Amino acid sequence: MPNGTKPALAGQAALVTGGSSGIGAGIVDALAAAGAMVAINYVSRSEDAEAAAQRIEAAGGRAFPVQADVSDEAAVEAMFAKVAERFGRLDILVANSGLQRDAAFTDMTLADWRKVIDVNLTGQFLCCRAAVRRFLAQEERPDLSRARGKIVCMSSVHEVIPWAGHVNYAASKGGVMLMMKSLAQEVAPRRIRVNSISPGAIRTPINRAAWETKEALRSLLTLIPYGRIGETEDVAKAAVWLASDESDYVTGTSLFVDGGMTLYPGFEDNG
Ligand code: BGC
Repeated sequence: MPNGTKPALAGQAALVTGGSSGIGAGIVDALAAAGAMVAINYVSRSEDAEAAAQRIEAAGGRAFPVQADVSDEAAVEAMFAKVAERFGRLDILVANSGLQRDAAFTDMTLADWRKVIDVNLTGQFLCCRAAVRRFLAQEERPDLSRARGKIVCMSSVHEVIPWAGHVNYAASKGGVMLMMKSLAQEVAPRRIRVNSISPGAIRTPINRAAWETKEALRSLLTLIPYGRIGETEDVAKAAVWLASDESDYVTGTSLFVDGGMTLYPGFEDNG
């Protein structure tokens, strides 16, 4: 950073859902490093969110852990109230919470289907709605950010790539894509920006089986033209950009951070 330039997100308040592990944890660190105050949402394991908050505070930043199941309307409302109470405002929502409940289609239970749709899609709806209401209700701070508020939804390459054995997950991410775009269209006149990040294979616990062994990793890499698995920082940098004024003219976009997974690598020497 050049001398005298303030960090991209200085003074802004952010909430990252699912911020205690995987991609969310990487985003929490990157937002804090960019100068934001960060509320770190977790659902069940408080230790990691608490440790991250302590680390950020020890480095001179501001952060706190906040529990909520994003698929529970009352819990989401209570979480947003706590963030407003703690930080006085909200400038950035990263709607990141997500999970997989994989099963062959004929074995998929209604509970598997509902859990994934509830957390990955309904959870984003509830958090985006609370964030937009907050953005509209609070005082505008053009000195902090050109937009009135910014939302980054966590989608996946599976918003476009069909995924056998994961129909609930792919359906949820396809839903996130058009929810995000429709919402972006609706709130752009209020100068609220809404975008998604669509990660490919990122090394996190959710896809451990795909990278843990040499054989699994080799097979995974056949799907990634760029030749490496993604790291959480790859996604976190994109999140900081989408949350900052650097992307002020960007709304309604799915930003694929996937090493080319959506380039149909199977067609390189075929078709
Ligand atoms: C899934 C991962 C998977 C990746 C690429 C993500 O959305 O959560 O399990 O490795 O897509 O297929």
